[in-house]
Amino acid sequence: MIQTIRGTRDILPADIPLWQRVEEAAREAFRRYGYSEIRTPIIEKTELFTRGVGEATDIVHKEMYTFTDRNEESITLRPEATASVVRAYIQHRLYANRAPGEVTKLYYIGPMFRRERPQAGRYRQFYQIGGEVIGASDDPMIEAEVIEMLDWFLISLGIEDSQLLVNSVGDSHERGPYLEKLRESIAAVLDRLCNDCRHRYETNALRVFDCKFENCQEIIAGLPTITDAIGAESRAHFEQFKSHLDARCIAYTVNPRMVRGLDYYSRTAFEIIGGHLGAQNTLVGGGRYDGLAETIGGPPTKGFGFAFGLDRMVMSMPEAEAARVRERARPDVFLVHLGEAARNHAAFIARKLRAAGLAAGMDFTDRKMKKAMALASESGARFALIIGDNEIAAGVYALKNLETGEQQSLDVEAIIEKLKR
Ligand code: HAM
Repeated sequence: MIQTIRGTRDILPADIPLWQRVEEAAREAFRRYGYSEIRTPIIEKTELFTRGVGEATDIVHKEMYTFTDRNEESITLRPEATASVVRAYIQHRLYANRAPGEVTKLYYIGPMFRRERPQAGRYRQFYQIGGEVIGASDDPMIEAEVIEMLDWFLISLGIEDSQLLVNSVGDSHERGPYLEKLRESIAAVLDRLCNDCRHRYETNALRVFDCKFENCQEIIAGLPTITDAIGAESRAHFEQFKSHLDARCIAYTVNPRMVRGLDYYSRTAFEIIGGHLGAQNTLVGGGRYDGLAETIGGPPTKGFGFAFGLDRMVMSMPEAEAARVRERARPDVFLVHLGEAARNHAAFIARKLRAAGLAAGMDFTDRKMKKAMALASESGARFALIIGDNEIAAGVYALKNLETGEQQSLDVEAIIEKLKR
């Protein structure tokens, strides 16, 4: 039997209501905060990511699904969507007709692909929901508004045990001198670091902070941080961002070692960590990316945004909320028919109920009463509607509450009214 590829999975019908609930809550948050949806292709020119996300990142260096198309063009399955959204923003001149400083708010929902080592909460095909605020303004209030929206979103899903980490990674001109300093400090302890860290030292020294090994962590704690190296303007920007969070009563922790895994960030970066997710506990990641548009060949453009893993968000939903969601996804009624005439009649009644907006299930096979009722229960429906020859003649049907066992004889109008209630 052919099975799914390692790191990919089927999201089965039983779990779909939870996925839809997260999507619905996100769409509602985006609606309230003025974002429009954008759908970009899943395949892009490889260059978009090598230049946009950065050659030295783990994502580009070892995690991309890249292939050569028949016309010798190098194509990549998108590992993230920020570069694509910025590309689309420039390609379609979405900035045209904007007032000075006016921003464009875009969101996306869809699959991303990274060839990481699969484990709980980490997949090779995973799903992200993200939002990007793009334009000519880098006002820190934009950043606080994004966090405020995420805060509302998490609370609306009942997720209350998450933690917001913030940092400033400075501007690109500040990172150069800092990186030199960092590399010097790493060089002094290089022989005590793991192989991965040594590789990061060669290619992208900042990534050393991502190392999860306890041994390395202790050494890393002594390295100089970017936050100590940033200039007055970046510092002021970060202070304003934090004061906007304070004004919104949003709790956060400054983590000067949080550097994010993509190269396009400048100034504000943040992550939201889930309370009960285990090793892969980063729910949301985001930040400012003022230089990204230029690295992919566009005009200077500012940007701030985030993405969260839908897979991880579903895993983080508290049991009480998940139970409520499953409850709401139950069908209203299941039609039980006894005999061929009743089968035809049931199809006709089902059509009426469905036209009235009710979720009505029905089995096509003629069965004995006991088995038919068992199917009604298994369907998850709240009620069974029993239809036999007597019921057809009288025009009233037995509506049975499958939770209480209570039964009533009602005509179709009364049934619709009761079920809608
Ligand atoms: P990222 O931190 O690479 O950022 O990914 C964001 C989120 O996607 C993570 O926090 C995690 O929840 C989820 N995620 C990432 N990789 C996996 C995986 N292999 N399996 C399951 N979930 C995963 C970005 O992608 C940026 N584009 C975010 C952004 C938008 N920054 C600015 N705008």
